[in-house]
Amino acid sequence: MAIPQQWQGRLRLPVVAAPMFLVSFPQMVMTTCKNGVVGTFPSLNQRSAEGFDDWLFEIEEGLDPAVDAPYGVNLIVNRNNPRVEEDLQVCKKHQVPLIITSLGAISELVDEVHGWGGLVFHDVTTRRHAEKAIEAGVDGLILVSAGAGGHAGRINPFAFVPEIRAMFDGTLLLGGCIGDGRGLAAARALGVDMGYIGTRFINTQEAAAPDEFKDMIIAAGSTDVIYTDAISGVHGNFLKPSIVAAGLDPENLPPGGGKYKTGHERRAPEGEERKAWKNIWSAGQGVANITDVPTIGELVDRFEREYTAARGAA
Ligand SMILES: Cc1cc2nc3c(=O)[nH]c(=O)nc-3n(C[C@H](O)[C@H](O)[C@H](O)COP(=O)(O)O)c2cc1C
Repeated sequence: MAIPQQWQGRLRLPVVAAPMFLVSFPQMVMTTCKNGVVGTFPSLNQRSAEGFDDWLFEIEEGLDPAVDAPYGVNLIVNRNNPRVEEDLQVCKKHQVPLIITSLGAISELVDEVHGWGGLVFHDVTTRRHAEKAIEAGVDGLILVSAGAGGHAGRINPFAFVPEIRAMFDGTLLLGGCIGDGRGLAAARALGVDMGYIGTRFINTQEAAAPDEFKDMIIAAGSTDVIYTDAISGVHGNFLKPSIVAAGLDPENLPPGGGKYKTGHERRAPEGEERKAWKNIWSAGQGVANITDVPTIGELVDRFEREYTAARGAA
């Protein structure tokens, strides 16, 4: 149970700011890393592998690996993502310190990342997927629990964390509704090494989300988030008011079809009626406790104060 050795001394908080489609871009990643938190983004936020390559040059130039927190790239490992091999080769060229894989945990990919000294964290929503990822040799497991933003799981963290901790000695992370330092301290007390935080970071000045999205998060309570497969093909959490604004009835959504849509499919064609992620916004139940849009620096300062106080009180 540990935070990776090579990251020691570079983190102010045991936190990975989770990759978010159409929200996390290089500027946000660099600001996050400079504030002592691991910054990440999905490679598919860039429309082409060439553009992705340029982004990695920009991030490398902007960060000092001796002092700044490491950065990570999220790869969606699925046959519906035609970019995965090409993006992996770009990551290899830049020796990206952390690869976060979603969907497929593949030992060849893990070996390739280890070959350049990188780490692989894999996100899972079930015990079976955790077992497969452990077999593939991943360094970290991200438990995406009930209520998380994006393609969340259904398992309560009080059940999920100890279940997986008992079978895994690597770095364990928890995703789902961590919104302040007390939540982070609670996750650590439960047995994880790091928090994996998405929704809270949407409401920062640096996040590329539109202002209407940030305002909707501030206005939303936990029951304004619905878990449905109708928007992106597989189950995820979405803001009910954004579904209504897109002209759909949240109580009568069309069936999802069970086919995962990668970034390309999620983006195109322009004008498609559902417009998942662009007009229909994903967020976790943690929206209930978000009331502002601080800078990332202010957010990390606040988290650090709360986390220190909560640990002292525990
Ligand atoms: C708007 C949004 C977009 C997301 N896009 C991705 C993505 O492209 N790839 C991915 O692995 N996870 C994605 N996620 C999930 C997050 O990486 C993370 O698992 C989740 O946000 C953690 O839960 P929390 O939002 O409750 O903090 C997304 C989440 C949100 C809210």
